[in-house]
Amino acid sequence: MNRRTTRTLAAALSLTAALAISGCSADSEDSQDSAGSKDAAPTAMTVTGAFMPEPVNDKMAGGFMVIKNASAAGDKLTGVTSPLSDDVEIHETKNQKMQQVTSMDVPANGELQLERGGNHIMFMGLKSQPKVGEKITVELRFEKADPVKVELDVKERTYNPQQNNAH
Ligand code: CU
Repeated sequence: MNRRTTRTLAAALSLTAALAISGCSADSEDSQDSAGSKDAAPTAMTVTGAFMPEPVNDKMAGGFMVIKNASAAGDKLTGVTSPLSDDVEIHETKNQKMQQVTSMDVPANGELQLERGGNHIMFMGLKSQPKVGEKITVELRFEKADPVKVELDVKERTYNPQQNNAH
């Protein structure tokens, strides 16, 4: 792709008379190429199993889900917004301590697991205290993919689909 562009450019430079035309065709070729590479990096994020354990108080709550990236290009979860909180963070857990990170990888043709004891979404300073059965809307933001709206089911405090899977 680059080699062809360089060759087109060289031809245009050597033929001054044809410069304008060559410049035009090189431009349209370029835009086709970049459209092509956008096709190769679509933003197909799907989310499953999104839930929030019923918060103990209105200070903080956790959010868990699996984000699947059907694209051949890796992406990053870069942020989360929600009507529940103006301060929604992405946390990782290391040595049983959680800490905020600015982004998390969503691998190509892979998934990012937000699960109890691991990576999670953290809602700080809740505007209300959700109860079991309610739904919390969040919007996930990615480096490349379009934002994805997700509803988290509020579950009982001990709910953990990972443990259920283990049986
Ligand atoms: Cu946390």
